[in-house]
Amino acid sequence: MHNPCEHPMLSAIVDDLATRGWSQQTLFLPDGLSRELALECRRRYAEGELNPAGVGRGAAQEVREAIRGDQIQWIDPGESEACDHYLGAMDSLRQAINQGLFLGLEDFECHFALYPPGAFYRRHLDRFRDDDRRTVSAVFYLNEGWQPDDGGQLRMFLDGDVEHDVQPIAGSLVVFLSGAIPHEVLPAGRERLSLTGWFRRRGNDPF
Ligand code: OGA
Ligand code: MN
Repeated sequence: MHNPCEHPMLSAIVDDLATRGWSQQTLFLPDGLSRELALECRRRYAEGELNPAGVGRGAAQEVREAIRGDQIQWIDPGESEACDHYLGAMDSLRQAINQGLFLGLEDFECHFALYPPGAFYRRHLDRFRDDDRRTVSAVFYLNEGWQPDDGGQLRMFLDGDVEHDVQPIAGSLVVFLSGAIPHEVLPAGRERLSLTGWFRRRGNDPF
C-alpha cells in the first residue's frame, strides 16, 4: 500500500513540525476540492446548520462574541464526498506525523467555520486546561480571491512573540502544535471560510 510518509508534502509538514512547531502549505489540496468544500460550507450555513462557536469545554462552554464570532458545524465521515476526501487526506497526514514524530495521534476532529464580516477570534491556545488531548491543529482555508485588505489573517505568535500572518487563501493549510503556538484570527472584512481540526492523542483518563 502507498505509504503516506513518502508523499513529499506530508514529509515537509512533518519536518517543519519537528524543527519549528508549525508548517504552512499554499496548495495542500486541488482547487476543485476547496471549491466544493466552500460550496458545502455556504449551503450548510444558508440552511441554518452552523451555530455560534463556544469558548471553553463541556458544561463550562459558553458563546462569547467578544472572544470569538465564528459559526461552526462539526463534520463526521459519510456526510459528503468532498468532506470524506478531506478527512482521508488528514488521516494520511496523521499517519505521517505518527511515523515521523511518534506523537501517537489517535483521531482527528474537525468542523466547518464561517466568520461573518467583522468576526474575529482573540489570541488563544488550542489546548484546554483540563484536557490535553488536542496535540496538532490543522486549518484548511476555502476563500478564493482573498486579498490582504480583506483582513481575517491567522496571526501566530512564534518564539519571542514574533508575529507570522497567514492569509486564509483557498487551498492553504496551516498545521501547528496546539499547546505551543498562541494565535488569533484578525477581524475578517468579508465572509471567511475554513475547515479547522485537531489531531488528538489518547487522554490520561484511566477509564
Ligand atoms: C480556531 C482557530 C484559526 C483560523 O478555530 O481555534 O484558531 O485561522 N482558527 O481559522
Ligand atoms: Mn485556535
